[in-house]
Amino acid sequence: MEIVILPDAAEVGRVAASVIADVVARKPDGVIGLATGSSPLAIYEELSRRADAGELNFSRTRGFALDEYVGLPFDHPESYHAVIDRTVTRPLGLDPALVSVPDGLADDIPAACAAYEAAIAAAGGIDVQILGIGANGHIGFNEPTSSLSSRTRIKTLTPKTRADNARFFDSAEAVPTHCVTQGLGTILDAKRLVLVAQGSGKAEAVAAAVEGPLSASCPASVLQLHEHATVIVDEAAASRL
Ligand code: GLP
Repeated sequence: MEIVILPDAAEVGRVAASVIADVVARKPDGVIGLATGSSPLAIYEELSRRADAGELNFSRTRGFALDEYVGLPFDHPESYHAVIDRTVTRPLGLDPALVSVPDGLADDIPAACAAYEAAIAAAGGIDVQILGIGANGHIGFNEPTSSLSSRTRIKTLTPKTRADNARFFDSAEAVPTHCVTQGLGTILDAKRLVLVAQGSGKAEAVAAAVEGPLSASCPASVLQLHEHATVIVDEAAASRL
């Protein structure tokens, strides 16, 4: 695993964006794995800037999001369908028809999860997967105790994650109780992983992921199994390493 420690959050965004930009420049019809949350926003802002400057073209790039809440209408501003559209698809200029987000409204969620896995495989797999990390070590919505070989499936959100995400909703109770998320096995299938973390609130999780034992109690520790994983953090997030 490659660990890159940078002075501040802005630099984390710039360096991580360069990794994604290199992949897209080499393979304009490649596949990017997209993460939500605040951590990757600086990456998307930098990629959007480069697209606006004509340095990058995402019009043939495919995107697959990591996760989605169960039961939130797609047009709810905090559904990951809406968040990906607002923060990635439009600013970068991806073709909306080439961007997929797990379906948290399907009547048959297990069938929709299997179809999502099949769509990723049919696209040739994910060339580079962007990841944030939860304060409890989750990636995507793979909460602690997630099976290390799990595939896309429905999960119950932990009280900690619901509390962390309450800031995006009117009240803590309004945060959905369940989600659909790519599994840890799905994430490990990506050809390259880029995890970003900023701030001291992530320091414990980053240390457990990078230096702790490989364990379902820190789902991000599965990055230790990947042959091409890069962790890009600012000094605050690296403070427990
Ligand atoms: C969210 C997302 C994750 C994200 C994490 C951290 O719940 N499902 O993909 O990495 O929590 O969020 P943030 O980057 O806002 O700290």
